[in-house]
Amino acid sequence: MKLWSGRFGKDTDALVNDFNASISFDQRLYREDIAGSIAHAVMLADCGVISREDAEAITRGLEEILADVEAGKIEFSADNEDIHMNIEALLTARIGDAGKRLHTARSRNDQVALDFRLYVREQIGVIRDQLLDLEETLCRQAERYQAAVMPGYTHLQRAQPISFAQHLLAYAQMLSRDITRLEDCRKRLNQCPLGSGALAGTTYPIDRWQTARALGFDAPMDNSLDGVSDRDYALEFLSGLSILMAHLSRFAEEIILWCSWEFKFIELDDAYATGSSIMPQKKNPDVAELVRGKTGRVYGDLMSLLTVMKGLPLAYNKDMQEDKEPVFDAIDTVEMAVPVFTAMLDTMTVLPENMRRAAGRGFINATDCADYLTKKGMPFRDAYTAVGRLVAVCSAQGKTLEELALEELKAVSDLFEADVYEALNLENCMALRNSWGGPAVAETTRQIAAIREFVSRQRT
Ligand code: ARG
Repeated sequence: MKLWSGRFGKDTDALVNDFNASISFDQRLYREDIAGSIAHAVMLADCGVISREDAEAITRGLEEILADVEAGKIEFSADNEDIHMNIEALLTARIGDAGKRLHTARSRNDQVALDFRLYVREQIGVIRDQLLDLEETLCRQAERYQAAVMPGYTHLQRAQPISFAQHLLAYAQMLSRDITRLEDCRKRLNQCPLGSGALAGTTYPIDRWQTARALGFDAPMDNSLDGVSDRDYALEFLSGLSILMAHLSRFAEEIILWCSWEFKFIELDDAYATGSSIMPQKKNPDVAELVRGKTGRVYGDLMSLLTVMKGLPLAYNKDMQEDKEPVFDAIDTVEMAVPVFTAMLDTMTVLPENMRRAAGRGFINATDCADYLTKKGMPFRDAYTAVGRLVAVCSAQGKTLEELALEELKAVSDLFEADVYEALNLENCMALRNSWGGPAVAETTRQIAAIREFVSRQRT
């Protein structure tokens, strides 16, 4: 019999029963549901709404149910629709009338809003810790390759010299922002909807501050209608995860490029690559490709929830039961993707000789050549044109800039002297890019230290 069967003259149709039920997916909220119910019961007793004995029986009963769920002893049932009614029914079966008093001054609407907030809050912490591990791995790899010159690209065309460290650290910076974005979401999320009731608060003398504090919130939400109606925290969380996945997907794309024969800047560890069923020579970057691919599902999760919420009148509507699966899916996807991605980066072999070889072709020191002339007094725009002419000469002859003889250089500008070869040396070009945030070793050293400080601050 349904908890709410009072006004009904018939049993629920079996199809409706299955269609309506959310227990298959919301059972993962059991811990949050029990924590919320205990805080609620204790508050009800403190406010004199239920007796102390009832609150104690409820607390004990819920703690036993929690232990039994964790021990795998409990089978939830679709007949009880969702996690909230499953647990309430279990409790009442165990402790009788006290269990029936738990739902005083509460509704499933504020209950589910609470459980979901608690769950998202918890997972923000889990994901943050995973991202911090990834940042540490990036710092470790970057530290080893601060002097490794590689071509930096724009339009996927070789552009200017950078180091492999500089490239990895760019992603570390993005991840730091992903973390602080989730933190911002957590701050706004951390207000307690419990006590909003179905939508209009309650006539009982409850203490919303007490339950809010007991559950680690900064305050109760200020408007009961808002408390049960909005899922903006879940949308914000999914947006944060979508942006994170966008970053990982770009990184994954580069990993895929870098381990191709065309680049060969890195080689993945055998444990983090896969073979082909037909081509014996293949070693495929499936992990990176799946991270790139799974980005699509996380974006989809965000779009699903945005679409569910759009156009819903206040307050609760059953549509909102559809909030959970996209959020759970995004959490599961991110929490699987990040550690495997970290391990893949941690174990990859970096091939700095190949990066250096690639850097040698493509005129990535052309800007430095123009800067050389500019520093000798030529206006930059003229220097730019002069070097453009040199690049044309080189292209016709299959040479690099530094392979031109001094007379050939002088034919374009008599400002060129023998010291130009030093200015064109790629290691020098990179070392001299020591402006704030640049690839020079002193700058990547500073960045690594700053990122490590961020990581340790986050961990405390
Ligand atoms: N299972 C429901 C959900 O996930 C719980 C809230 C149900 N409230 C209601 N009035 N039907 O949204």
